Amino acid sequence: MGAKKGRVVSGARPTGRQHLGNYLGAIRNYVALQEDYECIYFVADLHALTTLKDTDKIREWTYEMALDWLAAGIDPEKTILFIQSHTPQVSELHTILSMLTPLGWLTRLPTFKEKVRQQPDNVNYGLVGYPVLMTADIVLYKADTVPVGRDQAPHLELAREIVRRFNYHFGEVLVEPQAKYTDFPKVLGIDGQQKMSKSLNNHIEIAAEPEEIRERVMRMVTDPQRTHRHIPGRPEVCNVFTFHGFFSPDDVEQIEQDCRTARIGCVDCKRLLAQNIADYFAPFRERRAALAAEPDHIWDVLADGARRATAIASQVLAEVKEAIGLPPVR
Ligand code: ADP
Ligand code: TRP
Repeated sequence: MGAKKGRVVSGARPTGRQHLGNYLGAIRNYVALQEDYECIYFVADLHALTTLKDTDKIREWTYEMALDWLAAGIDPEKTILFIQSHTPQVSELHTILSMLTPLGWLTRLPTFKEKVRQQPDNVNYGLVGYPVLMTADIVLYKADTVPVGRDQAPHLELAREIVRRFNYHFGEVLVEPQAKYTDFPKVLGIDGQQKMSKSLNNHIEIAAEPEEIRERVMRMVTDPQRTHRHIPGRPEVCNVFTFHGFFSPDDVEQIEQDCRTARIGCVDCKRLLAQNIADYFAPFRERRAALAAEPDHIWDVLADGARRATAIASQVLAEVKEAIGLPPVR
């Protein structure tokens, strides 16, 4: 194996079983990046607390998410996989970085404004600091590359500004991270309107059995103008066709022609998609079942990841404290 190109860090809040949006938008890239980068991935359980919903589910959802990630190909031999709160250094660095972050930088973020609209009765201190904690997640490992969705762009820009400020005051200690955006920024749900998301219940789980995949795919919204089998369809406005682009690479040209000429109807088109999705994830389902048979193994992998993450984190944190001039322990 040649030298790696750099270090990747990314995380996602524990949301339980992963769906096609998570897979195409994030997991697939996580897996691919392992070849060329030193990767560090984590379950952002602390970030989940900012919305304080479903806290009783955090353990279960952390487990289910880690299970999906591992079955999808995150390889603990190559990659550090851990739970955010298991490296407490991140909270310490968050406190330090918060002192360097003007409040205005945080309150003007579109992501913050959106949350204020969504939960006006719970605009907590942690919510304002969400991007500072995210900055700590990244710089604690001196990561140079951060795979994220486009919605995270303002957070990455903020992380870069915080790093520049730190380095200006205390010397070149921290690394300015670059975002690496996914090719599938917005996978639509089965409604064909909104981003696929568990909370909208418009999702298809990657661990779903073929029958459940079929049931969900058959409910997918297609070209609204195609109200009858004999009316030609417009693949460019059809979400089913978008999925064929990924899951049916060999058939996609034929499907496009057949849809435009009404040689194929939406029902057959969806049947084919359901089959191809189910086939694509068949090896995944098998690996997942094998992993799920030994839950302790998942927790062990996460514990080992935390040990490896902590080794890096404590070193970087010590450098940060020394650069600032905080008095050492003796
Ligand atoms: P988080 O709350 O941490 O963003 P999500 O489950 O919303 O957790 O997302 C986890 C990852 O999956 C993120 O990188 C996000 O960009 C990606 N993702 C989630 N839903 C979609 C979607 N519908 N299309 C594309 N990417 C998505
Ligand atoms: N905020 C990210 C999201 O909602 C999740 C996240 C937390 C993250 N810390 C991170 C992503 C560090 C990349 C790097 O998707």
